[in-house]
Amino acid sequence: MVEAPGEQVRGLVIAIDGPSGAGKSTVSRQLAERLGYLQIDTGAMYRAVAYLMNQAGIDPADHDAVRRFCTTVDVRLDSVAGVQRVIANGQDVTRQIRTPEMSLMTSRVSALAPVRDAMMLAQRRMGAAGGVVLEGRDIGTVVFPDADVKLYLSASTEERGRRRHAELVARGEQVTLEETINAVAERDAQDSQRDLAPLRMASDAIAIDSSGKDVAEVLDMMEAACKIRSGMVGFSS
Ligand code: DC
Repeated sequence: MVEAPGEQVRGLVIAIDGPSGAGKSTVSRQLAERLGYLQIDTGAMYRAVAYLMNQAGIDPADHDAVRRFCTTVDVRLDSVAGVQRVIANGQDVTRQIRTPEMSLMTSRVSALAPVRDAMMLAQRRMGAAGGVVLEGRDIGTVVFPDADVKLYLSASTEERGRRRHAELVARGEQVTLEETINAVAERDAQDSQRDLAPLRMASDAIAIDSSGKDVAEVLDMMEAACKIRSGMVGFSS
């Protein structure tokens, strides 16, 4: 990035979009660590809203109740000893938002306009100063259409299902591989077929397929893409 005289260098806005299980969280966190940037997991923000709505007994079909509820929502991403915590209306919900039930519920709740409006505003505020890696579904298309770098990370449905299954089993969830692959496919359909901010690749994004690649390989491809697109201000290697 070229610095105009008298202008302060700001960090880049890096948008990483793609379907669930493509490995966005892991590579976003590591990319952010390398750059000394803030990582913003926007999926966690939607999960937190879905959790609070469920806890408050709000029916996603009740538009007035959803709209009122969204004016009371406060979602924060804190880092405690290098580990990201998700705080929703003051409650630490980091663990509770990661169950298979919450994944499907979040996919429904994230299609609601008042929820998307509230989260988009919060995400724009968090990323406004730059120096951020935001991961989600609509970062490069809707939240930051002028992002400095846009990456679209994908992998085959089977591979994404296998990765998600391994994560769930490691957390002690009782779920089969077949159920997990089906759930991933169902979420893909919901996320990409909704009217508002559907999952799609921005026309100016660089596509990276993580099938059959390990984290280090994907990270290398991302760094290369970032260098090409931006000149990588603040990148040391
Ligand atoms: O990335 P994730 O699996 O934690 O996301 C959970 C859900 O949130 C996902 O089904 C789609 C939704 N989401 C969204 O609609 N927009 C985003 N920017 C991020 C996630």
